[in-house]
Amino acid sequence: VLLTQDELKKIAAYEAVKFVQSGMVLGLGTGSTAKHAVDKIGELLKQGKLKNIVGIPTSNVTRDQAISVGIPLSDLDKHPIMDLSIDGADEVDPHMNLVKGRGGSLLREKMVEATSKKFIVIVDESKLVKYIGGSGLAMPVEIVQFCWKFTLSRLEMLFMEAGCVGKLRKFGDSEEPFVTDNGNYIIDLYFKKDIGDLKAASDAILRLPGVVEHGMFLDMATTLIVAGEHGVRVTNK
Ligand code: A5P
Repeated sequence: VLLTQDELKKIAAYEAVKFVQSGMVLGLGTGSTAKHAVDKIGELLKQGKLKNIVGIPTSNVTRDQAISVGIPLSDLDKHPIMDLSIDGADEVDPHMNLVKGRGGSLLREKMVEATSKKFIVIVDESKLVKYIGGSGLAMPVEIVQFCWKFTLSRLEMLFMEAGCVGKLRKFGDSEEPFVTDNGNYIIDLYFKKDIGDLKAASDAILRLPGVVEHGMFLDMATTLIVAGEHGVRVTNK
């Protein structure tokens, strides 16, 4: 039987939830994969199989979902360290580096996941790439609204050799710019070639005034769960 992509996402998510224990402070990810984990955690709380969970949501959408399934919530100010975070990704390279943020929640995701003792990434196998940018899809960068065209061209210039093209993200099919939970814009960067040294790329992006954060999550994931047609695979870093 062929499983749908959503069924694979659910398999990966449920596998990750097996790592959740009562009393944990949990970073709750955003997106169609993480959503299944949040639902499952809510279900286990209702059944009394999990107790005393505190969830730290990575977006307003996840906050609303977590409230609707009965997960008690808090924030980073009160709980600066997560026992565990569970989240999806847009790309995963062979070193467990990630691209995140096609859903637009990269900044809060990075703030929460950077402070997690354990960070489990859950994906279906379509997210695996040979190198970051290798899916041909976007690498998102959150920037302030002020003079966004200026920042866009500075970003393109940084990666000129990789044939970088940047696009301001729009809201759905409209001409309206997409605005993040933090009131910022997103520039989606497309590369024609491998950008090479990711740490150097990260540093260069973050040095640009006007940039808030980017969607490369380097050296952050501690466990990867991949669901595919041939089963589910758990890899620790
Ligand atoms: C949200 O901003 C993203 O980082 C998501 O975690 C990522 O896009 C994965 O989403 P899906 O699970 O919906 O593919």
